[in-house]
Amino acid sequence: MTKDLNQTVVVLDFGGQYKELIARRVRECGVHSQILSGATPLETLRQIAPIGIILTGGPHSVYDASSPHTVKELFEMGIPILGICYGMQLMAYTLGGEVGPCKVSEYGTISATYDDKACALFDGLESETVTLMSHTDCVLRVPDGFIGAAHTADCPIAAMYNAERRLYAVQFHPEVERTREGTRLIHNFLYRICGAKGDYNIDDVIDRQIRAIREQVGDKGVVLGLSGGVDSSVCAAILERAIPGQLTCIFVDHGMMRKNEGDEIERAFKGKSLNFVRVDAEERFLSKLAGVTEPERKRKIIGEEFVRVFEEESDKYAGSFLAQGTIYPDVVESGLTTGAVIKSHHNVGGLPKDTKFIGLVEPLRYLFKDEVRALGRRLGLDEALVSRQPFPGPGLAVRCIGEVTKERLDILRDADYIYREEIARAGLKYDQYFAVLTDMRTVGVMGDGRTYNYVLGLRAVITSDFMTCEYAHIPYSVLDVVSSRIVNEVKGVSRVVYDVTGKPPATIEWE
Ligand code: XMP
Repeated sequence: MTKDLNQTVVVLDFGGQYKELIARRVRECGVHSQILSGATPLETLRQIAPIGIILTGGPHSVYDASSPHTVKELFEMGIPILGICYGMQLMAYTLGGEVGPCKVSEYGTISATYDDKACALFDGLESETVTLMSHTDCVLRVPDGFIGAAHTADCPIAAMYNAERRLYAVQFHPEVERTREGTRLIHNFLYRICGAKGDYNIDDVIDRQIRAIREQVGDKGVVLGLSGGVDSSVCAAILERAIPGQLTCIFVDHGMMRKNEGDEIERAFKGKSLNFVRVDAEERFLSKLAGVTEPERKRKIIGEEFVRVFEEESDKYAGSFLAQGTIYPDVVESGLTTGAVIKSHHNVGGLPKDTKFIGLVEPLRYLFKDEVRALGRRLGLDEALVSRQPFPGPGLAVRCIGEVTKERLDILRDADYIYREEIARAGLKYDQYFAVLTDMRTVGVMGDGRTYNYVLGLRAVITSDFMTCEYAHIPYSVLDVVSSRIVNEVKGVSRVVYDVTGKPPATIEWE
């Protein structure tokens, strides 16, 4: 996705938690976006030649010595700018306005009024509205040439602009859903102020990535580790489209997939114009896990064994490229775009030095998750694969509390299958739901006999970011059916419980 092919909006990051959301909203409006550090040199910005720049919020006050600042020249490049929250304060402060503490800090959804009908940001929007606010400082006096354009009960200048210089700013967060018509405000900025043409769409992304893959790879081979998750599946699909016959997908079956899942993955990719290799490593993994009950040890053992099996298999393809389903949030969180590391990701940023591969291919590197899904659908992948819920790398091992054995995994697989079947039958949709086999056994009675079997936990959560969640209020009627089917049909379970804990304080997985 090079700049000469698309109009681009640069999101300059000043530490705001919503930078990715801003970039996604811009793309949803049909304009390519890119996240860069707030400290990006002006020369770099000039080279990118964005049609607009958005300054994110951030947790700072412009008066903190350590807070990120910017230079006056940023606002003199002639590029339209939208400052959001801290970005608004930074614009005011840098251009000679006055910033200070509000009378009352505003947090949460707050009623606001767009006062200035002439402000292009508010074109077609209701003037009485609701916005998400999160600030203790605010703009007390706008810089020369600016007009205050919105207010709330406690924030007299909730937006400001200078139409001639195409500089706009809002104290609230238009990128979040809780701001009414927030996306329309961003759309106005893009189309009425920046002159966006709306030239970014998923078909173009596919065409461009295919060209880029062909150019990079030539006639060499490519090896991809396929997990059956959304990212690696879509990565396989686009590679297959770009370089039919040159791709090898290695699926390491660690034996801890859900019921039938390994076969489903095989069915989805076998017979296509790629070389599908399924490595049956169940026994290898289970023997390493024998006697291990501590969750982090399980994770570590599985992670290490996974790399070992993949390397052994991929040795056969030395001299190929290695493909990875890295997506844009992985790149952003690794600090490669902004310098701020949130999580380190395996191999993001380059191949290790002593590698047998000749390069790294990452066709999804510029895409957000929802774009990856859209791409998968456009490439004809099954909906079940594209909308698959997240599944931990260590698989059912972290849902099998206590020792992981084939027998216990089978009990869990069967129970989990019934649970998923009944949720689907009831037409319910949750972001993630699964069964957990505990290591606790309780007494039960079946027929005339006493049983002494495992307690099985059911979990279903509602979340958009998987960082926090609420437990789902599953109808009792569905729980009734699931519970009675599991206890009757799955040998080894005597009792079913439902997890009614959110995150925090619990996590989504039990281990
Ligand atoms: P927690 O349990 O931390 O999970 O609330 C948040 C999300 O991450 C998934 N998860 C994992 N994914 N490897 C993964 O690839 C892991 O070890 C792992 N542990 C948790 C979890 O399913 C949820 O979606």
